[in-house]
Amino acid sequence: MADLVTEYIGLKLASPLVLASSALSNRLENLEMAEGHGAGAVVLRSLFEEQIEQANTQLEEELARGAESNPEAITYFPPQRVGPHEYLTLVERAKKALDVPVIASLNCSAPGSWTEYAKDIEQAGADALELNVYAVEADPKVSGAEIENRYLEIVGAVRKAIRIPIAVKLSPFFTSLGHFTARLDALGVNGIVLFNRFLQPDISLEKMAPVPAMTMSQPSEALLTLRWIALLHGRLKADLAASTGVHDGPGALKQILAGAKVVQLASALVRSGIPHLGKMLAAIEEWMDKHGYSSLDEVRGSLSQREIQDPGAFERAQYVHLILSQNI
Ligand SMILES: Cc1cc2nc3c(=O)[nH]c(=O)nc-3n(C[C@H](O)[C@H](O)[C@H](O)COP(=O)(O)O)c2cc1C
Repeated sequence: MADLVTEYIGLKLASPLVLASSALSNRLENLEMAEGHGAGAVVLRSLFEEQIEQANTQLEEELARGAESNPEAITYFPPQRVGPHEYLTLVERAKKALDVPVIASLNCSAPGSWTEYAKDIEQAGADALELNVYAVEADPKVSGAEIENRYLEIVGAVRKAIRIPIAVKLSPFFTSLGHFTARLDALGVNGIVLFNRFLQPDISLEKMAPVPAMTMSQPSEALLTLRWIALLHGRLKADLAASTGVHDGPGALKQILAGAKVVQLASALVRSGIPHLGKMLAAIEEWMDKHGYSSLDEVRGSLSQREIQDPGAFERAQYVHLILSQNI
């Protein structure tokens, strides 16, 4: 029987399939179900920087009001960071209920006092923290270099604040992703999650207004992730996690062949239910048995850019070849 044990960001996982940060990973019963169907780890739904900042501001206002009426109030209740308590409670409950690693998630776009909240997450028992660095960067006055430096400042501050492993979840919209991931690597990041998937607003012709559109991913979207996992595998100390468009066992295997340590699943499980994860694992095992692999380490990265005969397959050379060969 194939061995699916996987080491990811210093954590030992029984399988490479991870419940992604999503609407599913906000509820304890879903986390337990994912573990029951073989998830190697779970990533909790993100807590947003704005939620923490808002809670901090409220506390400061309350303290200021209290200080006016009672000067000792500040001494009794020294200003301290308090974030949304529910999140820490979820971390604690998940840790108590599950044997698999629990990865907390913070969604952020700018450095700030909220970074200190990462310490509270660590203290609540999270095994690791995923930082989803996200902003739609459309200001013509702000250069790509400035944006990258801002992201690195966030990650650096969190890295200094906590000891547990950190994975950074990125969007695919970087001019030089190789360079940026190398800089993250140099900061001591333990994992890089490729990629976050943006929900793009649509325009309603009836309402004559932009409307939010919640769509699940399609398997074809996994190819972007596949390419970048294949390009980056073996070039970074950080582990790579694949996210976006993986819906079945073969899809997960391709990401592992490209070099992913783990594959995160959201849309597939929203669509087909959490038990689908178990079916995906069975498909992976069956393929490994059929092809004579006894462990995932033998499989992982064997089709990354570094390992294949034709390194151009993941680069522009292939694009040129493909375009020029089309005669319709
Ligand atoms: C309903 C839903 C909620 C999500 N919430 C979060 C979140 O809170 N934090 C986060 O980092 N990603 C979140 N995601 C993104 C997923 O983790 C994942 O990166 C993305 O959906 C692409 O993977 P998929 O193709 O498996 O869906 C969410 C996705 C869905 C579908």
